[in-house]
Amino acid sequence: MPRKVNYGLDYDDDYDDDNDYDDYDIDYDVEDNAFSVVTGNLHKPNQEATRSGIWRCSICTYDNDQSMTACDICGVLRNPLPSSGISNGNDLKTVCKDSGASKMARSLFESLPNQTPKRDALIQQQNDDPLTGQRTILHGSADVHGNFNKLHEAFNTHAHRTVNIAPFKFDVPSPDDIVTNGLRSSKMGPKGTSSSYHEGGVEYTLPMDEIKPRSLAYSLDSASINDRGGYSNSYGTGKAASQGQYKPEKWMLHEAEDGLLSQLNLAIVGHVDSGKSTLSGRLLHLLGQISQKDMHKHEKEAKLQGKGSFAYAWALDESPEERERGITMTVAVAYFDTKRYRVVVLDSPGHKDFVPNMISGATQADAALLVIDASNGSFEAGMDGSKGQTKEHAQLIRSFGVDQLIVAVNKMDVVQYSKDRFDLIKQQLGTFLRSSGFRDSSVLWIPLSAMENQNLVTAPSDIRLLSWYKGPYLLDAIDSLQPPTRNVSKPLVMPICDVIKSPSMGQVSACGKLEAGALRSGVKVLVMPSGDVGTVRSLERDTRPCAIARAGDNVAVVLQGIDTSHVISGGVLCHPDFPITIAKHLELKVLVLDGASPILIGSQLEFHIHHAKEVARVEKMVSLFDPKTGKVMKKAPRCLLAKQSAVIEVVLQGPVCAEEFSSCKALGRVSLRALGRTLAVGIVTRVIEKEPIAFFKSKYFVFFSK
Ligand code: GTP
Ligand code: MG
Repeated sequence: MPRKVNYGLDYDDDYDDDNDYDDYDIDYDVEDNAFSVVTGNLHKPNQEATRSGIWRCSICTYDNDQSMTACDICGVLRNPLPSSGISNGNDLKTVCKDSGASKMARSLFESLPNQTPKRDALIQQQNDDPLTGQRTILHGSADVHGNFNKLHEAFNTHAHRTVNIAPFKFDVPSPDDIVTNGLRSSKMGPKGTSSSYHEGGVEYTLPMDEIKPRSLAYSLDSASINDRGGYSNSYGTGKAASQGQYKPEKWMLHEAEDGLLSQLNLAIVGHVDSGKSTLSGRLLHLLGQISQKDMHKHEKEAKLQGKGSFAYAWALDESPEERERGITMTVAVAYFDTKRYRVVVLDSPGHKDFVPNMISGATQADAALLVIDASNGSFEAGMDGSKGQTKEHAQLIRSFGVDQLIVAVNKMDVVQYSKDRFDLIKQQLGTFLRSSGFRDSSVLWIPLSAMENQNLVTAPSDIRLLSWYKGPYLLDAIDSLQPPTRNVSKPLVMPICDVIKSPSMGQVSACGKLEAGALRSGVKVLVMPSGDVGTVRSLERDTRPCAIARAGDNVAVVLQGIDTSHVISGGVLCHPDFPITIAKHLELKVLVLDGASPILIGSQLEFHIHHAKEVARVEKMVSLFDPKTGKVMKKAPRCLLAKQSAVIEVVLQGPVCAEEFSSCKALGRVSLRALGRTLAVGIVTRVIEKEPIAFFKSKYFVFFSK
């Protein structure tokens, strides 16, 4: 029943069987080492240059006084780094692969589908013709799209607009908050009386008081004037196409179709084994989404494998690997209805090896259910800064703009429904959530037991819980969430999370959530980054056909008239007249998370943006912000430490679909990871260099045809 989404890893290749389930407890030494760093090849550890009276840090190259045992700048010990812990291209290589086919997508086609071609970010430079086996430079495809490229370039003339972004405060790490609270130029010095910015290729100077705090409205206004002002033509139509000129058609704006509840994408997140899948399975069963017959089947099979307690989880954990290991590896998508919502359940993996999948699923979330294991020691393990995923998931969710959170304190049966235990968890986790930018009023706390069906879809029956808990049960809490705002009146943006192909029928299906705009069969869509235009043949929601999909809907879009290999997960469907940007060189505003290793110039990181992943190299550090005042406290810092926020530039190994956060939040949120851990979250503040489609297409064609 659920649809499994392989968000990126090829687990057969990347997951070490020998490590098995328990190895989430095993951490890289380097992660625990306070002096560890994530660095690229630029920095060769253990190469300490010593001059009289000083020693040069092998990591940040700062010249330290001889008396110092650790670097004054980055804290690295004088001779510290175990070479095994250093990230290199190979570490990252394992992470940058594309997905296989989802079950839902498979079910769309009767004939046996092909798997989405695998994509390895590190082989994309090759131009071998997949058909002839010869090395070619594919200028042909560039010519075909020459027109488009010219238009795209015209559209992209405004490459150097500077968006003014206020610094992160660790207390309020949400990019939304940052933008809402005011914007500050990355080019702006802390003490200057004026600052310059670019507009239409011209540099302007503004007095300081004019640039200081800028509201979201201001930035969006200026974005709409400046960003797209230079774009005078659009693909195929020759019409002007700035965001401001977009006029949605009538059918796009209609209220919800008769009888259809509005959709709420609910990410189920939390530390490994906290009971996310069991809770999801139990809810689905209680709400009639899993038949009695199927449930008996799961129970029987789970018992046969000696995993009887996983019967409900097996409704979501469908693959043999997941069932054998007793862990979720890919996000499962399932549906149930409440009084107000059609809830899309995004059951995420909790194991630390699968955080990239969790990220890809959670970027679609409107709200989140954070599941906590209340049992003694388990809550504490989840909260452990270096090994637990509770904090990491919560911070990631917040950085994706999710501010409505339900904390399901699960397995209360194990602690005899103790109020004291619940209060302790609420107090400790509550403090952390507050510091991560969740408002108390937006967080609901529900004690429950998925296993014993307490407090899920009805009030609890266990007297021990009833005696002290008077709040809502879980289903009620979900119903009380505020409906998310939807960008229906903006041009179409749909990041593609999953793809399935039926070459025999010439069809390809792109699955994902519409972040803006609307779709119905017959409309043309631009598929990025390939730049191809396809036609929507049909739409499916929860494997059922639907006539129209609007912003917020999670759908499968069946496309025709397009080369199926040109539709990839990590790509984006958009309006043909409003192509989104493709870029490799970006300016980011980032917040380094608590406990993260230092980030240096030259560090190689995994770069995550919507459903795309790329290898990124930190090219430049522009400025570092004072966490207390939010002002620039240093220009061109040499390294970033935990809890610091800064503006940096990254160069990606391959291009991604990205937009400045101020113009499209869904395509402007990023996270940076290394060594299996999220180091920083942030937003795109500037697209420094946009990629022409032809350049990308020649690589892309070969790359995905492998
Ligand atoms: P990952 O997806 O791998 O992160 O795990 P998960 O959070 O989905 O946990 P899962 O649902 O697979 O459950 C893990 C174990 O916890 C199973 O053995 C469940 O039976 C058990 N479990 C889940 N909920 C409860 C509960 O309310 N009470 C008790 N006693 N056990 C539970
Ligand atoms: Mg699970």
